[in-house]
Amino acid sequence: MLSTDDVFLLSTELASDARFSRALNEQLRAIYGSPPYQDWLGTVAEVQPFELSDVAAVDLLERAGLARSGRLLAKLNLTEAGIFLTDGVWIDPRVRVFPFCDESVALIGFVRKSGFATWADWTLDLATGCGLNAMAVGGRSVAFDINPRALAYATVNRALNGILGEDCVLAINDIRDGIPKAVCSDLEGHVLILANLPFGPAPSADALPLTSNGGESGGDLQIAAYRAIDRFVRSSKGRLSVRACLMGLSVGDHVANRWDIVERAIEHFGADRVKWHLLTDEHVFRIDGVRQLENPASVAVAMPGLASCRLYTPDEDERIAKVEAFANLAKRHQDRGNPDIAYGIVEIVDAT
Ligand SMILES: C[S@@+](CC[C@H](N)C(=O)[O-])C[C@H]1O[C@@H](n2cnc3c(N)ncnc32)[C@H](O)[C@@H]1O
Repeated sequence: MLSTDDVFLLSTELASDARFSRALNEQLRAIYGSPPYQDWLGTVAEVQPFELSDVAAVDLLERAGLARSGRLLAKLNLTEAGIFLTDGVWIDPRVRVFPFCDESVALIGFVRKSGFATWADWTLDLATGCGLNAMAVGGRSVAFDINPRALAYATVNRALNGILGEDCVLAINDIRDGIPKAVCSDLEGHVLILANLPFGPAPSADALPLTSNGGESGGDLQIAAYRAIDRFVRSSKGRLSVRACLMGLSVGDHVANRWDIVERAIEHFGADRVKWHLLTDEHVFRIDGVRQLENPASVAVAMPGLASCRLYTPDEDERIAKVEAFANLAKRHQDRGNPDIAYGIVEIVDAT
C-alpha cells in the first residue's frame, strides 16, 4: 500500500521540482488514456492495482513512489480540472480516499450550468477528498476534509496540476465541528460552498467506507453541513453573499416528491431558500464500479443492490450478510414512510 507518508513525500518533491511535476503529469495522462487502463477502469478488476505491463516506463513512477512490482499503487482520475491521483478500492475503507470522480463531474457540471462558478469569488469545499471539486471551480478556494490522507493526495494533485498553494488552501476539518472561523475570516464577496460529503445510507458504522457512510438515512453529514453553513452565514453578519450546493442521496417518497434532506434543509433555512435538483441524467448507486439504478429508485431494490457491490465487498460470505443488513434497513425506511431514494443536489440560495 502507498502510505500517507509516501503521498506526503511525493507532494514535497513535486512542489520543489516543476520539471518532474510536468513529466509525471504527462506520464500519468498517457497511462490514463491507454486502452489497458480504460479496460480496467469501472470494472471489478479495480479491486487490484492496475498492472503497468508495457503501458509505461516505470522509472518516473518509481521515483514518484507510485509503482511497485509492475503495478500502479494509486488510481487516476482525469477531469476538466486535470489529472488526479487518489486511492483505489484495494485500500483499507477506513482511511481510503474517494476513488471515483463521477460525483464530482456531476456536481461541477451543475455548478457550471447554473453560472455559480463565475459568480463565486471564493469556493469552500467541505469534503474535498483528493481535491477534485475545489480545483475544478478554479479561482480562490479553501478545501477541507476530515481525512489527512485525502489532504495529502489533494496537496499532490495541487502541485501536479500547477495550482498555487495560496489560491487553494487545504485544511483538516470535521464538518460536525462547523466551518473553521480562523481559515475563513478573510473571505469577502460571493462564497460558493460545495459539498460531496458521505451520503450512503448504512445499517452500521462499519457497513460502508469513510467516504460513503452517511448513517441510517444517509443524511447525517448533510444535516451537520446545514448546521455549519447556518452558523457560518450568521457569523459573517451580512458581509458575505453565500450560496451552497450539497450533493446527496435522500430517502423519501417519489410520488409525493418529498425528500428527507430537502425537508431538513427547509427546517434550517426556510422554503424560499432551498431548491432541490434531482439529477435525472444520473443513475443511483455504484454497483461493481458502475452506477446502475434509475434515479429515483425504490429502497427495496437500491439498498440490497448497493450491498451486493463486489468492488466494496469482494468476500462472498461478507457480501451475503451485508445484503441482508441493507435489506432490513430498506424495510425500516419503508415502515417510516420512505419507500424511495433519490440522488440530487440541495441548493441553498442567497442564504444571507
Ligand atoms: C464521497 S467522498 C467525496 C470526495 C470529493 N468531494 C469528490 O467529490 O470526489 C466524501 C469525502 O468526505 C470526507 N468526510 C467524511 N466524513 C467527513 C466529515 N465528518 N467532515 C468532513 N469530511 C468528511 C471523506 O474523507 C471523503 O473525502
